[in-house]
Amino acid sequence: MSIKLRLILSNIAMITVPIILFMITSFLLMIVFLGDIREMANFLPESHNYHKTKQEDTLLFLSLKEKSAADPEELLSKEYLEALNKDLKEIDSGLIIRKNDDVIYATSELKRVHTQGLPVFGAEKSFRSLEKIGEQTFAIKQHDFYLHDGSQISLFLMRDASPWNQFVRTFFPILFGLCLLILIATNGLLAYFVSKSIIKPINQLKKAAHFIKNGNLEHSITASRNDEIGQLTQAFEEMRIQLKASHEVQKQYENNRKELIAHISHDLKTPITSIKGYIEGIRDGVADTPERRARYIQTIYTKAVDMDHLIDELFLFSKLDLGKVPFEFEKIDIKNYLTDFFEELSFDLRKQNVELNFQFNPQGDYDVLVDRDKFKRVLANIINNSLKYMDKDKKELTISMHSTNENVEISIADNGPGIPDKSIPFIFNQFYRAEQSRNKLTGGSGLGLSIAKMIIEEHNGVIKLESTIQVGTKITIILPY
Ligand SMILES: Nc1ncnc2c1ncn2[C@@H]1O[C@H](COP(=O)(O)OP(=O)(O)OP(=O)(O)O)[C@@H](O)[C@H]1O
Ligand SMILES: [Mg+2]
Repeated sequence: MSIKLRLILSNIAMITVPIILFMITSFLLMIVFLGDIREMANFLPESHNYHKTKQEDTLLFLSLKEKSAADPEELLSKEYLEALNKDLKEIDSGLIIRKNDDVIYATSELKRVHTQGLPVFGAEKSFRSLEKIGEQTFAIKQHDFYLHDGSQISLFLMRDASPWNQFVRTFFPILFGLCLLILIATNGLLAYFVSKSIIKPINQLKKAAHFIKNGNLEHSITASRNDEIGQLTQAFEEMRIQLKASHEVQKQYENNRKELIAHISHDLKTPITSIKGYIEGIRDGVADTPERRARYIQTIYTKAVDMDHLIDELFLFSKLDLGKVPFEFEKIDIKNYLTDFFEELSFDLRKQNVELNFQFNPQGDYDVLVDRDKFKRVLANIINNSLKYMDKDKKELTISMHSTNENVEISIADNGPGIPDKSIPFIFNQFYRAEQSRNKLTGGSGLGLSIAKMIIEEHNGVIKLESTIQVGTKITIILPY
């Protein structure tokens, strides 16, 4: 259940539960106090223990009776009635005076009573009797008398006696207190349960965040609910996994960089040492014949070329890495471009005893946007690898090409040693070299393929590698039109 729904439900419960509980308790209270719910209709001042009020009520009625006998004119005077008002309030009653058929006086709370419904003259009642007048029920005492001029006067001492009214009046403090108590209890309980279901997972999250803050990325959390906090927990867990993965990649890069520095120092140190040796040989006259001297100079030159290549690659790599290499794209027919490229290379390949197969569909559309120089670099890096790591006597290189509706696919396959499966996912990573080639004398920085990848991605293309150990390696480049 979502938190939103839970809050809505708890708010509804906050209103309905107290109402229901209140109704139940007042019902029970009625039964407790009145014995039976049916008694409620009889719940009148007479039938109840209002001894004090009842007494005063009787006394007042008696005094009114006496007054009507002794001095009826004064009874009707404004001053007398005003003075009476206070006593009436004390016993919770009102007074109506009717002269013949007209009401000549009514206390304020009785002003709206339908006076036509009042009992007729002569129906004197000394005890309260229950009368339904209009919509209301009153407990009424009635006294009738004549004035000197013969007009008929009726006094009605009246008290609102609707059973519910009476009940509420009696138990109001208890009911009010009860109402408040029920409200507080419901509110408290609901707040407790709702907040418990929210606070617990938040604490769990807090703990997990604390672990991450302290660098512990192993502590996993699982969402126990599918509400907003559950989703947050899920997202938090995914973030942790992501963070852990990138942490590991970072560590891997760091290791690779360290290895690279060791490699570069080694790769630069080796040729420099031999260059120094050969130069000393020439200087000290060890190379005493012109042929020997020429051989020494050739070796020095080769070593310098190797170093130049390494530095070149490093330089290009860091520039690509920083995004500082400008690309000049032009629309070319990649089929013609490749044909030229391999033609240039064919002499070297033949010399190295490599058999070259070039396969493509002549009908295909091979126009793509390419930066000539950078793409040449990609091809050179791939073919250099194939030649460098080749371990067969019969060397084969197969270039195939085909076009689809959206792109051109070029693949270059060799029949070399292949790459172990566990190395394939990392092969395009910077500075990565598969285990088996690190120990060989092939040399290399592990930058060739990552440079190729960066260049192809700059072309909005994709580069992939498939390899089977002992069978060979195939690199596929996909370029969009
Ligand atoms: N055709 C291939 N056959 C076998 N292994 C390969 C082939 N191409 C790449 N590899 C493996 O992939 C690794 C990464 O190649 P990459 O070209 O990036 O670096 P490198 O050749 O070691 O160094 P660099 O190319 O920078 O001189 C190589 O070290 C090698 O282990
Ligand atoms: Mg290489």
